[in-house]
Amino acid sequence: MLLEIKDLTKEYIRGAASFRAVDQVSLSVSQGDFVSIIGRSGSGKSTLLNMVAGLITPTAGSIAVDGQSIPSLSDKEASRYRNSKIGYVPQGHSVLSNLTVLDNVRVPFCFFKRKGDGSLRALSLLEQVGIPHLAQAYPKQLSGGELRRVSIARALINDPVLLIADEPTGDLDMHTTADIMKLFRDISQKGTAVLMVTHELDTISFGNRTCVMNSGVLTERPAT
Ligand SMILES: Nc1ncnc2c1ncn2[C@@H]1O[C@H](COP(=O)(O)OP(=O)(O)OP(=O)(O)O)[C@@H](O)[C@H]1O
Ligand SMILES: [Mg+2]
Repeated sequence: MLLEIKDLTKEYIRGAASFRAVDQVSLSVSQGDFVSIIGRSGSGKSTLLNMVAGLITPTAGSIAVDGQSIPSLSDKEASRYRNSKIGYVPQGHSVLSNLTVLDNVRVPFCFFKRKGDGSLRALSLLEQVGIPHLAQAYPKQLSGGELRRVSIARALINDPVLLIADEPTGDLDMHTTADIMKLFRDISQKGTAVLMVTHELDTISFGNRTCVMNSGVLTERPAT
């Protein structure tokens, strides 16, 4: 099993009371799975993904990727984990404004010592997300959907075993959304597990599993 989540809980305190943003979630994801997570705003989807990415610490429960426990990693180990094992497309915009599009895509490649400079691979990913002509542009010259595609290309630069994508097509048109979903499906068929949060129900047919998040509780929909 590539990703094994057991009884994962995140409690937050709001005012005087605490509540569970993620409530005893269990989920097993294999290599090649493409899992879509849907659910209302505020139901805990991003909190779940951020725990899997090692960005926030759970209150209780366990997460293992390739048999390695994510919450027990040190900061340094968590950085290496994020850089080598996972690709992460965050919900908000996260590109660096002083770097070109190409260099933004290359950033994760350059973090730890790797052969080459990643330019060719970055360019090939920009082609796959449909914006090779913007390689030398700066983020402020791009539209919201183009910026989103930069962060998708950046998430794939290090060939992750697990791609975590939080509403990756939220600001894309139908046609581009379908292209990106086909790309995710291809990647999953080549063995990368995909964990995607989406509000667009059209996109879930590209995956093989669908889960619904409701007030922190995750339920898998039976396959149809
Ligand atoms: N750092 C925090 N402190 C307190 N409450 C938080 C914190 N982060 C998130 N929350 C709350 O936890 C709940 C889940 O938030 P989360 O961002 O996971 O929702 P979501 O399902 O991703 O929503 P959306 O679809 O709007 O992105 C929300 O009620 C949110 O207000
Ligand atoms: Mg969210």
